[in-house]
Amino acid sequence: MSIFFDSDKRMFKLDTSETSYVIGIYEENYLLGLYYGAKIPDMNFTKFMKRNPSASFSPVNPVIGEHGFSPDTAPIEYGCNGAGDFRISALAVRNANGDTVTDIRYTDHRIYKGKKAIPNMPSTYVNSDDEAETLEIDAVDKVTGAMVTLVYTVFENCPVMTKSVKVKNTSDKTIYLERVMSACNDFYTMDYDIITLWGRHVKERNIERRPLAHGVQGVESKRGVSGHSQNPFVALAKHDATEDFGDVYGFNLVYSGNFSALAECDHNCSTRLIMGINPNDFEWTLSAGEEFYAPEVVCVFTDKGIGEMSRIYHRFYNNNLIRGKYKTEKRPLLINSWEAAYFDFDKDKLVAFAKEAKKLGIEMLVMDDGWFGKRNDDTNSLGDWFVNEEKLVGGLKPLIDGVNAEGLKFGIWYEPEMISPDSELFRAHPDWHVHVANREPMLGRHQYVLDVSREDVRENIWNQLYKVLSENKIDYVKWDFNRNIADAGSALLPPERKKEFFHRFILGTYDLMNRLVTTFPDILFEGCSGGGGRFDPAMLAYSPQIWTSDNTDPIERLYIQFGTSMCYPASCQSAHVSACDRTGYETKGNVAMWGTFGYELDPRKLTDDEREIVKAQIAEYHKTYKLVRDGDLYRIISPFDNPFNAAWEIVAPDKQSFMFTLVCMRANPNSLCFVKFKGLDPDKYYTCENDSEVYSGAFLMNVGLNLTEKANRDGKSITLYFS
Ligand code: DGJ
Repeated sequence: MSIFFDSDKRMFKLDTSETSYVIGIYEENYLLGLYYGAKIPDMNFTKFMKRNPSASFSPVNPVIGEHGFSPDTAPIEYGCNGAGDFRISALAVRNANGDTVTDIRYTDHRIYKGKKAIPNMPSTYVNSDDEAETLEIDAVDKVTGAMVTLVYTVFENCPVMTKSVKVKNTSDKTIYLERVMSACNDFYTMDYDIITLWGRHVKERNIERRPLAHGVQGVESKRGVSGHSQNPFVALAKHDATEDFGDVYGFNLVYSGNFSALAECDHNCSTRLIMGINPNDFEWTLSAGEEFYAPEVVCVFTDKGIGEMSRIYHRFYNNNLIRGKYKTEKRPLLINSWEAAYFDFDKDKLVAFAKEAKKLGIEMLVMDDGWFGKRNDDTNSLGDWFVNEEKLVGGLKPLIDGVNAEGLKFGIWYEPEMISPDSELFRAHPDWHVHVANREPMLGRHQYVLDVSREDVRENIWNQLYKVLSENKIDYVKWDFNRNIADAGSALLPPERKKEFFHRFILGTYDLMNRLVTTFPDILFEGCSGGGGRFDPAMLAYSPQIWTSDNTDPIERLYIQFGTSMCYPASCQSAHVSACDRTGYETKGNVAMWGTFGYELDPRKLTDDEREIVKAQIAEYHKTYKLVRDGDLYRIISPFDNPFNAAWEIVAPDKQSFMFTLVCMRANPNSLCFVKFKGLDPDKYYTCENDSEVYSGAFLMNVGLNLTEKANRDGKSITLYFS
């Protein structure tokens, strides 16, 4: 049993394998968040309930009276707007009067084994009901009739807790949700650093760490998607926490649209963290009896440092988020046509790629952008998902047959949520793009966003996708999204529902993706948004891999892959060797081997020497496939901390083998490079397959290796295999 309710103390304790989370029900049924941290056996939090040492100016509840409790200073479990709690709130409900004061109090709860899916939205899952236990707490705002259900699931075998929220209108009048966050966590102190992932196109997910300060701080997206700029991830780490030591809390939102992840440090030097749909340009009209579901947050706590937090996320996402055939089945090793050909290809060129690729050991050819409508550049045809027969004479069949005849599988590119003004679809339906009345919508890469919040639009796109995918032998789909959403509006939404657009758009995307994966369960699905512009856990619920970045330079990729690994597993980071020439092919391969390995180049242009290197890489890829997918990642030298070298290690779950890679980004003249390893079995003797030297795990972790000679040239790298 992992969830306990002490009916005398009126307290819940939710335990995972290593953590406890305590919620108390105070007088007048206020719900208080009393503890989140390392596992504890008891829950005598009575003295933590009142936290107001006679604070002036803090409102008091008239029934409870002036004896030390105020919503202003109490650790409120799900902070509401305007009823004495002045911090950033998780919930604001407007009623028919126009009042926005919101105040929820405990009414009921349920505890059950397993975990329910969130309707129409992606969420993590249990493989069997024994894996987790769920607590649902109902709390009602008497005045508006909003009944909030706070949903917590704790996992028995890993330190993960998920949180999500449902709001039901139990009144007979319409209410308006101005904000519904998915998680709200109060911490007793502000002695934390906040860690976030910022970026931009071709420079995604840089790690940024800064101490919390009084006021509000955090990350958000207003781009309509999670975006390149900020990832829906935030960690709070004790100031002394390092990669290998100390208290760290991670929060990752399973959502692909506008989000907020904010921490506020108040006058008591306490911290509140909220995460969920960005309230900016959001409102949801809830008629009598209707329900609204907010997306899920995956919360991790560990006292073993930032690296351990990442490994917990990696294991959890591999086991409880990524799904479908390719969760476990080996994914075909692919070559993608984009950087090799851009829009300039025809059947013969692609079949020639396949022929050469086959000789190297590659298993699938992916035809990227440019196969449909009349598309020969990026100015047209999005929305016209029928074959460009000028380019691919006779349609897809002769091409796919040709590729299959060379022994390769075949994959295809789509950008379903977009429409080019120069397209048959736009000419037929000039109101199907995202826009607002009387404003000329902004363009992005010459395209508009297609209004997939509309069912008729989705139906059209789905029918087009279905025709191509059902009539042809297609093994893989890459789903791209190459601009952000401006002029947010849908021709169909009435004025009072305009602010529902952004969320409805994301629900529309999920609907399409869900149809794709359920109708075509054998297709390998790869997410993409101009590289990693929609790299979030929600996308992983549909696509087991995501194109990490359009930047395939191996040195730049080090930063991107290190940042991405903060919470996303190697199994989902698509990483390709391309023709870009800052380093040789060895280093390109060593870096790409970190993730879902592949190629993105014209295989006919490889020299004989490069060909041999690629063949050897592919042999290594097959050998290490399972290790990379299931292993534990240890970041040994981070490029964010060290301007010269980067290094990482992937250790098999049973610690019987591991691989280690060191990349010299920039040689540090006359310097030494000693590396200590992590996460090994101290008593096991490991043989280095590269030079047959034998070392104990204890030696490697405490003494390490002298790799000075491997780190003496810009762009040089080495991967060592131990077993
Ligand atoms: C952006 C993607 O990230 C690239 O890999 C490629 O698919 C292009 N779009 C095609 O337009």
